[in-house]
Amino acid sequence: MYSAADKKRTTQVTISTLAKMKREAEKIVMLTSYDASFAKLCSDVGVDVILVGDSLGNVIQGKKTTIPVTLDEIIYHTNCVMNGNETAFVIADMPFMSYANLNDGLDNAGRIMKESGAHMVKLEGGKELVELVKAMAVRGIPVCGHLGLMPQSVHKMGGYKVQGREQEEADHMVAEALALQEAGIDMLVLECVPAVLAKRIAAELAIPVIGIGAGVDCDGQVLVLQDMLAITPGKRPKFSKDFMAGAGSIAEAMAAYVKQVKNKEFPAQEHTF
Ligand code: KIV
Repeated sequence: MYSAADKKRTTQVTISTLAKMKREAEKIVMLTSYDASFAKLCSDVGVDVILVGDSLGNVIQGKKTTIPVTLDEIIYHTNCVMNGNETAFVIADMPFMSYANLNDGLDNAGRIMKESGAHMVKLEGGKELVELVKAMAVRGIPVCGHLGLMPQSVHKMGGYKVQGREQEEADHMVAEALALQEAGIDMLVLECVPAVLAKRIAAELAIPVIGIGAGVDCDGQVLVLQDMLAITPGKRPKFSKDFMAGAGSIAEAMAAYVKQVKNKEFPAQEHTF
């Protein structure tokens, strides 16, 4: 069982740490952060991976979608996170259309790595990204994929909906995940996917598969910080949980999230599709 004594890491989490955690079936805890203060708290409570998500468009800027977020904004917020972070592995989202072709993708990923110090970049999409992922991998840029509900494609998808419910769609997602792994991604996020499909993908892939609304059988979990602190305006998504309820402080709420992911108490059935 995960205990308070396990909380504070003393060494930097690396891609090798995360691969070992998958091999040893230790759950990976990922949380979004966008500034130095929360990044420091993440390190203090034992969050393994900080995601500087383009969800900052929603929760920091108050926009309706992630689409307006710019590369400079991602670099700015990732820099803030790197200043506060001590031991967590840091992933920066590549914004909408910043990787629409090979050259832009390489240039912009290079800018994120050089100007922010992020350890990995994240891209939304499937087989259309194979060439770009290969090109990044051989140039030493670690990449996290993102399948299922892809918020940058919200208008194409017709809203924020669970993906992969039909058998054909599910098989297609498995094929896309395998193609991305073959191309060289080192991690995959699955968003709003039925738990049974996420379990299948996590079992078939050798790399860590991190779920958000994808059930407890993923290799780890990610939530948007403001959702789990219950300060996002409006209705909380089904897959999130109010970790402030019963917590005495923000740090306690974040520590409870870490503990519940590590111990497979979160996500429960009620957070799952
Ligand atoms: O932008 C973000 O925060 C994300 C998570 C929802 C996975 O991509």
